[in-house]
Amino acid sequence: MCGIVGYAGARPALGIVLDGLRRLEYRGYDSAGVAVVCDGDLLTEKKAGKLANLEKALAERSTADDDAVPGIGAGTTGIGHTRWATHGGPTDRNAHPHRARDGRVAVIHNGIIENFAKLRAELEAEGVEFTSDTDTECAAHLLAGELSRLRAAGEPDGPTLLATAMRQVCQRLEGAFTLLAVDAAIPGAVVGARRNSPLVVGRGVGENYLASDVSAFIEHTRDAVELGQDQVVLITGEAIEVTDFTGAPATGKDFHIDWDASAAEKGGYDYFMLKEIAEQPQAIADTLLGRLKENGEIVLDEVRLSDQDLRDADKIFIVACGTSYHAGMVAKYAIEHWTRIPCEVELASEFRYRDPVLDRSTLVVAISQSGETMDTLMALRHAKEQKARVLAICNTNGSTIPRESDAVLYTHGGPEVAVASTKAFLTQVVACYLIGLHLAQVRGIKYADEVAAVVDQLQEMPDKLRELLAGIEPVRELARELKAAPTVLFIGRHVGFPVALEGALKLKELAYMHAEGFAAGELKHGPISLIDQGTPVVCIVPSPAGRGMLHDKIVSNIQEIRARGARTIVIAEQGDEAVTPYADHLIYVPRTPTLLAPLVTTVPLQVLACEIAAARGHDVDQPRNLAKSVTVE
Ligand code: F6R
Repeated sequence: MCGIVGYAGARPALGIVLDGLRRLEYRGYDSAGVAVVCDGDLLTEKKAGKLANLEKALAERSTADDDAVPGIGAGTTGIGHTRWATHGGPTDRNAHPHRARDGRVAVIHNGIIENFAKLRAELEAEGVEFTSDTDTECAAHLLAGELSRLRAAGEPDGPTLLATAMRQVCQRLEGAFTLLAVDAAIPGAVVGARRNSPLVVGRGVGENYLASDVSAFIEHTRDAVELGQDQVVLITGEAIEVTDFTGAPATGKDFHIDWDASAAEKGGYDYFMLKEIAEQPQAIADTLLGRLKENGEIVLDEVRLSDQDLRDADKIFIVACGTSYHAGMVAKYAIEHWTRIPCEVELASEFRYRDPVLDRSTLVVAISQSGETMDTLMALRHAKEQKARVLAICNTNGSTIPRESDAVLYTHGGPEVAVASTKAFLTQVVACYLIGLHLAQVRGIKYADEVAAVVDQLQEMPDKLRELLAGIEPVRELARELKAAPTVLFIGRHVGFPVALEGALKLKELAYMHAEGFAAGELKHGPISLIDQGTPVVCIVPSPAGRGMLHDKIVSNIQEIRARGARTIVIAEQGDEAVTPYADHLIYVPRTPTLLAPLVTTVPLQVLACEIAAARGHDVDQPRNLAKSVTVE
């Protein structure tokens, strides 16, 4: 939520910051703004709406600029922000950066300053006039106040002063924040601070970067530094200095980014989402790469848990949000079946508030693509406080959730830019299977050859997905037919139930249509009355080979809804002819073992939602009101 970029070096900052914002726009697109330090002046520009509005304003400004005076394009130190609004509506005046009263300090912010009302009242009592409704503006005034206090106390001016002032401010703030700031009087330096919100450093040559995630600077450097909690970082062209909030020196963790800038481009697709759907076979292959040792053991990534810890686990909680929660729901079926350990799946936003029963022998699996989702992070912290062990499944190296977990399995899906999650979901499901197999193995429930047999089935999935994607055109045609439907329902049983929920979520978030997913058996307990003449119902049918009874039950459910006028869109396994008489539209997917079926059955639903949204004229990659990384509770 909110994307932030900072640059200090010798090149003009504006272009670098704008390029970074373009890559971070998935994090929020309510407004965008930049501040550049140029010749002892602070030049800012900000506009409500998408980045394109800011770019237009900057283009107009450059035409109007007096050539004799260096303009905003000339400065070599700058910060930029793309906003997902929390405090204050998405207007020009609430767009970041926010200037302090002296007009020389600019601040951008991601997160929520929870004590902002108190701080604002104090500042107003001192005579400060606020020009926005944001919590961020408090930080700008506080920072300017600290700087002038330190200067008045005779502290030498320069980058260190900026860092000292930022530390003082951070000590007064409560809540979650990443802050970046520049001061016109201190050219060549950007200061950053983080608590409970993401911030990474890019290490360049003669230049350095700060950003919410590495995609913002990937085209300039693949060397990055991960920051810890409650740290302040000062960058200049030559140096990166990290301290904690008290000023004690701290060190970030260096890491190398193993993908390049092209991975974050559309690569000829109309939308990132279509590109990311097409990347799913590779994403699964990459997530599986090197996971099975020669002796048959499954390999996780960073493991600070012993096999004994895993043997001791007598209960598993999976915590996640949205699509990641659906991945967790799929995982439950596989984990319980393979390990015989009770496994509950919880919405992370509810978890800690209901006081779950946790102890040392509870294993909590936190699933998050971004690794920054605040609800999931808070659930994880609650679990750790109760002494539970935490294992993270995450797609983002260097993010907070894996850093605070006892073990991590990274989904090597590559950057996911479209707000709607696709390849992250499939790779999370694969990661959950691997964890289930690993647990079964260390607990002696499955032998190495049994584990290897499932891994072999997983290894076949990329080819199956390629086959499925090659024949996806009929789904596109269907999408065009369904674009005006007032509602679309999804039903499934067993692992098909979370797939139904995921299909409905995708359609809601992208096409802004009413859509709901149900466990097929629940329809008769109420929701069946929603079905009217022509209501489209997408039915996820399990393999008749794997679980014959499941298959027959859902075929009966399909007959029930068809008898009540539903227009049935049936997703079934190739060769399943039993469903043909009841399908108004039949979409075949490759044959797959029942537990692994979500890896294929979800894909047509992703394409359906994407194409319906496009047909309705919506922005597929950046649906309204949403952001990719949800760093507020
Ligand atoms: C939906 C979607 C969201 C995310 C959710 C969790 O398409 O992308 O529902 O799945 O916000 O995000 P992460 O996985 O980053 O914790």
